[in-house]
Amino acid sequence: MSASTAAGGVRDIGALLALFERPAAQRIYTESVTQAEHALQCAALAEASDAGDALIAAALLHDVGHLLTVEETEMATPPGTDRHHEAVGAAYLGRWFDNEVTRPVALHVAAKRYLCGTDARYGATLSPASVHSLQLQGGPMSRQQCDAFRSARGWVSAVELRRWDDEAKCPGAATPDFERYRPLLVGLLSRRR
Ligand SMILES: [Fe+2]
Repeated sequence: MSASTAAGGVRDIGALLALFERPAAQRIYTESVTQAEHALQCAALAEASDAGDALIAAALLHDVGHLLTVEETEMATPPGTDRHHEAVGAAYLGRWFDNEVTRPVALHVAAKRYLCGTDARYGATLSPASVHSLQLQGGPMSRQQCDAFRSARGWVSAVELRRWDDEAKCPGAATPDFERYRPLLVGLLSRRR
């Protein structure tokens, strides 16, 4: 990576992290925590599970599509519309990060549908907001859909991410701040270029 490209990447990471300071990130996420708190809790759970840097980044950034879509489309789409935040987020992150980051992000909604289709106990653990969004997202996968999901690259990481995602809704949980992840994110830029 050239020095100018590296400097541009560092600026981009700054802009990316600044998304979490926007009003949308400070709103209460589902019923208990803000988007920023949710992102940090999810990353902390990934770290505690000894996930690699790419999966920690995916955990931190998996819902960035919500931040990108909520302000632009909230007024343009009726309540209860699925804005496909996972695809929006993965496409956005693909400017800087490789598939090890973007695939789990792109698949984390499908992973919820997969888990609902394969683990009867899993569905009972979902928050009310997740149950509601599940219906908008297509409901539990059929057996055929589950088989197809398991053939997708990155599906195991997506399931891991999904489980942290579901746990990362604890009001008041202590976490590192976003600055902790800046070097990790900058380090991942070189894999993309
Ligand atoms: Fe999430």
